[in-house]
Amino acid sequence: MTKKWWMESVGYQIYPKSFYDSNDDGIGDLNGIYQKLDYLALLGVDLIWICPFYDSPMDDNGYDVRNFFDVSKEFGTMEDVKKLIIRAKELGIKIVLDFVLNHTSDEHPWFIESKSSKDNPYRDYYIWHDGKEIDGKKVEPTNWGSFFGGSAWNYDETTDSYYMKIFSNKMPDLNWKNEKVQQEMINIAKKWLDYGIDGFRIDAVSHLDRDEFIDAKVYNNEKYPLDWNKFSNLPKVHDYLKLLNKEVFSKYECLSIGEVGGAASIDQGIKYASFDSNELSMVFNFDHNWCNNLHEVTNPKKLKTNVIALKKVFNAWQESFKDIGWLPLNWLNHDQPRLMSQYGSYKYPLESGKMLATALHMMRGTPFIYQGEEIGMTNFPFEDVSQFNDISSKSAYGYHLEKEPDDPVKALKKAALRSRDNPRTPMQWSKETHAGFSTSNPWMFVNPNYKKINVEKNLSNENSLWHHYQKLIDLRKNSIYSDTIIYGDYEQLDRDDENHYTYLRKGKNQTLLIINSFSSKKTSYDLSKYNIVEVIISNYKKQNIKDNILTLKPFESIVFKVEEKS
Ligand code: NOJ
Repeated sequence: MTKKWWMESVGYQIYPKSFYDSNDDGIGDLNGIYQKLDYLALLGVDLIWICPFYDSPMDDNGYDVRNFFDVSKEFGTMEDVKKLIIRAKELGIKIVLDFVLNHTSDEHPWFIESKSSKDNPYRDYYIWHDGKEIDGKKVEPTNWGSFFGGSAWNYDETTDSYYMKIFSNKMPDLNWKNEKVQQEMINIAKKWLDYGIDGFRIDAVSHLDRDEFIDAKVYNNEKYPLDWNKFSNLPKVHDYLKLLNKEVFSKYECLSIGEVGGAASIDQGIKYASFDSNELSMVFNFDHNWCNNLHEVTNPKKLKTNVIALKKVFNAWQESFKDIGWLPLNWLNHDQPRLMSQYGSYKYPLESGKMLATALHMMRGTPFIYQGEEIGMTNFPFEDVSQFNDISSKSAYGYHLEKEPDDPVKALKKAALRSRDNPRTPMQWSKETHAGFSTSNPWMFVNPNYKKINVEKNLSNENSLWHHYQKLIDLRKNSIYSDTIIYGDYEQLDRDDENHYTYLRKGKNQTLLIINSFSSKKTSYDLSKYNIVEVIISNYKKQNIKDNILTLKPFESIVFKVEEKS
């Protein structure tokens, strides 16, 4: 295995709109990130992934790009980017940008040209199709559904045809079959790398190819069934990525992490990102994101983690990538509910938060923390649909309401539990007004728990969740265990144990035993196979071991250095 710089890094994901507002307009900005770089360095991260800040009409908070090489006014200027890059370099922090290459905004000059006439030179930059006639009525070319609800096609009257858009109407999909599009995207990537950034998180990368335009199967009478297979992980995506790798990634020592969506199996993940795939450095998968009963409940207190399912996923990815590839390690991102509200415990926030951090950070791969995770931020207590900002949360509410029109409260609760607005509320810096995020009214509601949960409070308490994250990062990067934590083998244990997620990390001459209890009750764990050498990190002051039996307190988590008894 050739070692790469990102294998030894710890990443942090920034959603710029909600991170820190430096100019008091209520919107986070680049200069805000600049001002908080020292904070990130103190935490110990040395890699930041910044979600899109490009010029955009903000239909999807920046994932609808109008100009790939300009900054949206509310976020700052290209000068601010430069300043950020320079200061980050001084602090040893690498910067990875979000590269949105599946679609643009409908306000991008390419699309404005493309839709203007059928023979415009930019026509083939996007995917256009004539409508179908059914009973004398013109309808979409296929019945495919889109991720944000409704059809995957939108009608445009200028040329009386439909364009494909698997996200919102304002996000037309690029036609990657067109070599000119490929070249444009190669140029954009190179331009940013030459500008000084260190790589990309590549948005929606598994969707760059489309299946034949044949209707999807209809289940549940849905007008527009969402069938991922129609536009996910199709063969040509690999050709495009090999091209990007050859023309761009391989020419720079840059990191390329693809977002491969829920439909990508491990085998597909390996195709994208094994060491010899010549495509991507790693892929973010989502298999571990929904291992609970989220779909069955409306009351967040009734959420229960399915530990067996969760570790099955972790184990499978860890084992499949052993020796042949590298993985990012992240719990959740800006598209999922907050970690504390998904897998943590409101009764034991500190203990469960620390346990979840340890469980993830001790695996083999590059950890990524999502902003606010390090202080245990939680979901927002939505009380009304008007509080949703996110386009897909609004459409999810509509979807649930259509199913049960008499129960708007239930529709709201269902949409709220999964809403992408949860992770996008402003970062809680302090107990000051607006959580110290801004002095003006923020663009998005601040979570009312900010006086209890904020950075300032975490920093002032040595026993806080924040300090636990800092310790985990320090252990990984600067300790006698670093080599084992980064490169050691991962060995799963106790597959059928429904309370504990346990595994070994085996280094050259060290073995670490990682034990994480997901239970809110006392549990016990048999240690008779090991000689315990020492405790490396834990979330309770004292461990209770008697006659080789470890009695674990709620959400207890311990990393032991052990020797295996023969
Ligand atoms: C994935 C991004 O993470 C999400 O926020 C966005 O809405 C879609 N891709 C479309 O760009």
